[in-house]
Amino acid sequence: MTTATAVAHPNIALVKYWGKADATLALPATGSVSMGLDVFPTTTTVTVGGTADDTLTLNGAVTTDGALVRVTQFLDLVRTLAGSTEHASVVSENTVPTGAGLASSASGFAALATAAAAAYGLDLSERDLSRLARRGSGSATRSIPGGVAVWHAGDDQGSYAETVPAPPMAMVVVTIDAGPKPIGSREAMRRTIATSPFYPAWVTSTTETVTEVLAACAAGDFPRIGELTESNALRMHATIEGAFPPIRYLTARSVAVFDAVAELRAAGLQAYATADAGPNVVVLTTPQDRSAVATALAGHGDVIESGTGPGAHLVRSEGTATTGEAPAPAVVRPEESAE
Ligand code: PMV
Repeated sequence: MTTATAVAHPNIALVKYWGKADATLALPATGSVSMGLDVFPTTTTVTVGGTADDTLTLNGAVTTDGALVRVTQFLDLVRTLAGSTEHASVVSENTVPTGAGLASSASGFAALATAAAAAYGLDLSERDLSRLARRGSGSATRSIPGGVAVWHAGDDQGSYAETVPAPPMAMVVVTIDAGPKPIGSREAMRRTIATSPFYPAWVTSTTETVTEVLAACAAGDFPRIGELTESNALRMHATIEGAFPPIRYLTARSVAVFDAVAELRAAGLQAYATADAGPNVVVLTTPQDRSAVATALAGHGDVIESGTGPGAHLVRSEGTATTGEAPAPAVVRPEESAE
């Protein structure tokens, strides 16, 4: 039996991914840019062998529903790459509020990709791990590299994420509602593409915004990154609301946080709001202003501060591969393994 354990963190998009160009290969219609968080880690252990079927234990509970189906489909890809037919047991501890629009799937599939590749004896580059994670969940592509990351649109070879230079940034997560979202991002993306008249404009404008945000990151221009981030989030939600039947993720309480963030800016703080496929709001800020922003927004929900996080990494890898190549040696980055 071979076993490997990996840790990955969620990321929050500054420029959002919303829509696939190819659903089978999980190729996005546009590029996107994110900041990796240093909170809400997912720790996943994959053990190959000793089980007749794939099993999934999520936060201590044996899971047999759709989550196991997605994990099995993902492991099938890994097995194809490794030339293995062995099943695996997957044990995952996910500290992201599941389904709350805070991208639990990003840290989940980034940790699974990293642990499964090592446990099945694959020695993948960061780029290839990112491409593999993409097949589990689009946003997981960006949780493989650390820090601020761009996920390139492209074909199967060219669509991966990598870290880009950026000024120091922080985030304040305002959790308004930690319950499951009304409609998952896969189905909501499909409906948006099929029915929202705004979708073509979303693709054109987001492609431009990726270039603009990367230029602002390279220039260290935080206010420009912030204003583009808030604008892109509102454009995504407008596009989604244009679907039929409509999908609306932001609630009155979410909008109140956007208003409060505008007031903080007027008062001189660096703060820009964004939101994924759910009601929760994440505020992009600077390391200097993060605690003032967190204190000011405490009345709106559960508030958690985050710095810029590390990439996905192995924390343990051992055993003898019984099929395919020998397992990759443990790659433990000490500075990142302290959770
Ligand atoms: O790949 P998914 O299903 O996690 O989709 C992510 C979609 C958003 O979180 C709304 C945007 C993004 O780029 O993370």
